[in-house]
Amino acid sequence: MSGQHNLLEVRNVSREFRVGTAFFGTTIVAVDGVSLRMGSKSPLIVSIVGESGSGKSTLARMILRLLEPTRGQILLNGNDVWAKKTEEELRDFKRTVQPIFQSPHDSFNTLRPVSDALYETAVNLGIAKTRSEADDYIAQTLKEVGLDWTRIRGRYSTAFSGGELQRISIARALLPRPRLIIADEPVSMVDASLRMNIINLFEEFKESFGISFIYVTHDLSTAYYISDEIAIMYRGQIVESGAVADVLTDPRHPYTEMLLASIPGIGGKWTSRIELSGIEVEEYNLTGCKFYPRCHRRLPVCRDVRPQLIPVGNRSVACILYQDSADEHVS
Ligand SMILES: Nc1ncnc2c1ncn2[C@@H]1O[C@H](COP(=O)(O)OP(=O)(O)OP(=O)(O)O)[C@@H](O)[C@H]1O
Ligand SMILES: [Mg+2]
Repeated sequence: MSGQHNLLEVRNVSREFRVGTAFFGTTIVAVDGVSLRMGSKSPLIVSIVGESGSGKSTLARMILRLLEPTRGQILLNGNDVWAKKTEEELRDFKRTVQPIFQSPHDSFNTLRPVSDALYETAVNLGIAKTRSEADDYIAQTLKEVGLDWTRIRGRYSTAFSGGELQRISIARALLPRPRLIIADEPVSMVDASLRMNIINLFEEFKESFGISFIYVTHDLSTAYYISDEIAIMYRGQIVESGAVADVLTDPRHPYTEMLLASIPGIGGKWTSRIELSGIEVEEYNLTGCKFYPRCHRRLPVCRDVRPQLIPVGNRSVACILYQDSADEHVS
């Protein structure tokens, strides 16, 4: 039945935050009209890349049902993520989509053995009925991430290295064999030498279990290496998206161009975080393109007109330079 629906459909979703006091506060638009689709035919790894504060985690949390959108709709297998759910529907949701967070230390209670969390997930999600049934299943799943259940059972999170603990939290996410895993900066706190081992697991799970991933990261090199598709976010909007090889070898949006110009070429080492210097803030109120203040290809019209994300060849770009109406605006 799920074959008829897209695995994930994010429809024009926004999220605002009110910051400051009632009188002197201001509204931040953290995610601003984002649309995103992942089909259900074959599993995909989609990277979401952008500078700090561009809204990546806010978007991830809305998809995970952790933070409610201000506007828009999110559908998972055709079901509204934010619709009121029965307990069974909620369990179904958690069996379908699972998170991996940046810090594995936040995923486990330090006062209880990590194995408790694994048992709990297995039982709560209806994967195993008894503890011994769960034992077999957990052991098998831990093996998928290169860990041995007998070494983990009964031990506390403090007994493990960050890399080991992140593997355990990946195993936990894998327990229900979800259709989608949302990994928000999953390796940024892991020792650099171990990052690729963990990233490679995603590829393995995609192949062997048909799991799709949304991989949120600052790191263009791992995004390039691991993903099929990429979405570039800037100030709450997707400014360019498409096949990773297209977007990163032949960028169209001036922001993507700038990102790529600021790092060594493909095949080189992209280790630095994305941090661009340039004109700062005051931009949230603009009605025009959010990238206008930093854009090296801007037109006068860009100050006033907000470009929509539209198809340009096989990809999508939100820039007036690629819209049919651009000619009218230039003249
Ligand atoms: N709970 C909140 N209350 C107020 N503002 C928030 C809240 N959560 C996020 N924001 C703001 O929303 C914007 C987007 O934040 P978000 O954490 O989604 O960015 P990000 O792309 O994940 O950044 P990073 O790469 O640093 O993780 C930022 O300006 C942030 O300060
Ligand atoms: Mg974040």
